[in-house]
Amino acid sequence: MSKTSLARLTNDYCPQTLFLYGTYDDEGKADFGLFCWFSYVWNGELGVMACIGGNKLTKENIHKRKVFSANLVTEELLPLADYLGNTAGHSPEKERLKIDTEEGRVLPVPVLTASPVSYELEVMQFVPLHDGEVMICKIHNILQDDMLTEKAVGPAEKLAAIAPVHTTCTTYFSWKGESLGAWGEPMAKI
Ligand SMILES: Cc1cc2nc3c(=O)[nH]c(=O)nc-3n(C[C@H](O)[C@H](O)[C@H](O)COP(=O)(O)O)c2cc1C
Repeated sequence: MSKTSLARLTNDYCPQTLFLYGTYDDEGKADFGLFCWFSYVWNGELGVMACIGGNKLTKENIHKRKVFSANLVTEELLPLADYLGNTAGHSPEKERLKIDTEEGRVLPVPVLTASPVSYELEVMQFVPLHDGEVMICKIHNILQDDMLTEKAVGPAEKLAAIAPVHTTCTTYFSWKGESLGAWGEPMAKI
């Protein structure tokens, strides 16, 4: 295979899964932001690592309470997720949005009702960077749609049913690999 060295840093062609992080602000109001710098760690048990760049409401809320939820983004959720990823939590516009949420079963975090997989996370370690921060998290609970816990149905069928969204090249992709639009486009539907 012949390869080209790139002139800029990018993760193009390395698809990522998307999550909506749910936090509570000082008034107990739920805020959701869209995130893709999310992966897993091993520390005697499965954990999560998440990176937040710059300053945003999600980061402020996590610093105050040390807990948040991470809710898997599906094709059905994409217009809302895109909106939440392109609208700052501090803007009055975002505050007016009505989102169906429920309380975490183990931690005091807002969980997105329409997401089929939600993690309830506690930050065990903050790793500050120059203009970002990595958070190493303990998973206190994983909520899955009942359909995903069915033994008789295989993972391929379940994944096709929930259809998680992938992103790379500043574009969203369906579970089957079709383009669902550039960042900032799907939100036009809400
Ligand atoms: C597709 C997509 C992925 C994003 N991933 C991240 C991420 O991993 N880390 C980050 O700091 N911001 C990320 N953002 C930006 C946040 O979603 C954005 O700053 C949002 O306003 C955060 O919500 P908040 O202002 O309510 O905290 C992403 C935005 C988009 C559109």
